[in-house]
Order: sequence, then structure tokens, then C-alpha cells
Amino acid sequence: MVDTKTQYFKIKTEVDAAVLNVMESSQFIGGKVVNDFATNLAAYNGVKHVIPCANGTDALQISMMALNLQPGDEVITPSFTYIATVEAAALLHLKPVFVEVDKRTFCMDPESVERAITPKTKAIIPVHLYGHAVEMEKIMAIAKKHDLFVIEDNAQAIGCDYTFSNGTVVKTGGIGHIGCTSFYPSKNLGAFGDGGAIFTNDDTLAEKLKMIAAHGQSKRYYHDVIGCNSRLDAIQAAILDIKLKHLDEYIVARRKAADFYDNAFAGHEKITTPYRAPYSNHVFHQYTLILNDVDRDGLNKYLADKGVPSMIYYPVPCHKQKMFAAFGGDNYQLMTTDWLTERVISLPIHTELDEEQQAFIVSAVVEYINL
Ligand SMILES: Cc1ncc(COP(=O)(O)O)c(C=O)c1O
Repeated sequence: MVDTKTQYFKIKTEVDAAVLNVMESSQFIGGKVVNDFATNLAAYNGVKHVIPCANGTDALQISMMALNLQPGDEVITPSFTYIATVEAAALLHLKPVFVEVDKRTFCMDPESVERAITPKTKAIIPVHLYGHAVEMEKIMAIAKKHDLFVIEDNAQAIGCDYTFSNGTVVKTGGIGHIGCTSFYPSKNLGAFGDGGAIFTNDDTLAEKLKMIAAHGQSKRYYHDVIGCNSRLDAIQAAILDIKLKHLDEYIVARRKAADFYDNAFAGHEKITTPYRAPYSNHVFHQYTLILNDVDRDGLNKYLADKGVPSMIYYPVPCHKQKMFAAFGGDNYQLMTTDWLTERVISLPIHTELDEEQQAFIVSAVVEYINL
């Protein structure tokens, strides 16, 4: 699905030198390299503070801890997302409340959010799924009206631009009270291991987030609140700082690959290609098709036999996961989520795809569907 090896070889000289530099300095935890990366990422994303941490799941957990949410408080999340979004809430004994997604964007549907609000609701967690933004203007208006926190799960959409109706453009992750991201290797900004970061424009929250990620420590060996141990290694920060400089060109490459697929599948009655809403550009973390009247498992296997990977993100929505049985199951009627879960399939998309590879992938998909 991704080709991180070829991507690495293109920047090998820079990356190897940066890693060697960290090894020679022996400053493996914290220090200048991590701080510089946080500063550069804050500038890129247009946010005041970036707090690096160990992974995207921790970023979500630390964010919810910083907002003082109490056991039983409700947080609204889409069911059609990666498990981490919801798991972090459940781990803190919060109650995830699942809402619908928009059929075209795959992202949280604002009307469904508004309907799910109760006196116990404390936060909304929009997930910018596959690299497309949630309709944040509406989400922020709902949050303001009901006095709720917004934590953006930006793990899949780093670099995505959201355009408000007044023309203001803001990068996702910098719109809500807090934004979270992941540097998992296959992400658009991927480390060579695990990593994550938290974004905020709020000075007080930034201090709290920093403290929680460092054992609740306010100054050395003075611990004010219960926290955890969540750090981004200096080696990963050094690599990420180099890749950050290439992020925009990586996004362009992903968009070019997406356009190729779009054109190749255009007009096929059994294939719906990814929609781009006017308020969001798309950074194509995934290129996900909706299949109409196609045996999806059959296609998945047919492609695998031809050496073409394809993935189902995600085969089971969160409200149907055993892990969330206490919160989900038949209490929910999420028709769009269920409908999409049965029909989506993601094709390889990354910075190193060439047109020959894509033509091969497209012909294999079309061949199967036309059988
Ligand atoms: C939407 C979403 N949220 C959260 C995460 C968690 O990130 P991590 O794997 O770095 O913990 C991921 C990715 O894995 C993700 O795709």
C-alpha cells in the first residue's frame, strides 16, 4: 500500500546524516532536535504550540486528560474510524457516543453530532478520515453553541487545508481546541518508528498537555497531576524534521496519483471515486473507492493474486466492535456507516507510485469488475 523504502532512498543522505548527528550528540530524549522539530511543525501547521509525544493514540489520550473530562462524560466520535480514536476515550472511562458520517466525504456528519448532544456531552472528536477534512465550520459552531471541546483527530490528514466560508484557510489540526496527529511510518508524515504530536493555540492547555506527557511534572521531580510517559525520540524527530520539508511535495505526488485513478475510473457505473468537498483539499492518505454491486472480497483476492495490495479501512465500524459492546451494538442505527463499511476498498497510494504501476492496478480492478 505504501513504498517507504524508495521514499527513504531519495532522502537517504540527509536522513543518515541527521540520525548520525543525534547518535554522536547522545541526546536521545528531548533536547534541541525535538524542540526544533516541534517549532518547525508549529510553523507549518500554523499553530502556536506543538507537543511531541510517543504516538497518535497517546496524543488523543493526553488531550482528553488535559480537558479534565470525568468518568461517564460523553464524547462524540464517528463510528467509521480507526479504533484508536475511541479506545483512548474508553480507556479514560469516558462514554463514546457514535455518530454518522457523510456518505461522500466519509467524515463525521455535523447534523448527526447535533442530534447526539446530551447534558453529559463534553467533547466532539472529528476525524479527518483518509486525508479529507470534516466540515469543521459547522462542528465549531455546534461546539460553541453547546460549550463543548473539540479535539481533531488529524492522524490521517496532516497538511490538509480547510477553507471557511469567509475565505480563511486553516490547516486541519489547528481548528479545534486541540489537534492530534500520528507519525506512524505509513502516515503522510511518517517516522521510522512510532511518533505523535498534539497541537493547540491555547497557552494554558499547552502547559497542561506538556505536563501530562511528562508524568504530570511541572518542574523536575515535582508532579502536579497524574500523567503518563509519552515522548518522541530525538532520532525520530530528526528524521521527521527532514521529511517535513518534503511534506508539501509528498502531498502533491499523492494528489497526482489520485487524479490518475479518478480519470481512469471516471464514468464506471460500479465505482465511485473519492469526493472533494469545496471546503477541504484532500491529502489522500488513502484512496478509497465505493463499490456498487461488486463482490468486494472477490476483488480483494483477485488483486492480491496479481500482486496488487488493497485494504478495507475498516471492516467493522467501532459501534460493532466487541471491545465497545458496552457502548454500542444494536443501540445504534448508523445506516451510512454500515453501508460504507460493506462497500469501501482502498488502493495503493503513496509518493512513489508511477503511472505504469497505476495503469496495472486500474486494469486489474476494471478487469475483475467487468468479468
Ligand atoms: C484516525 C487515526 N487516529 C489515531 C491513530 C493512532 O495513531 P498511532 O498509531 O500513532 O497511535 C491513527 C493511526 O494509526 C489513525 O489513523
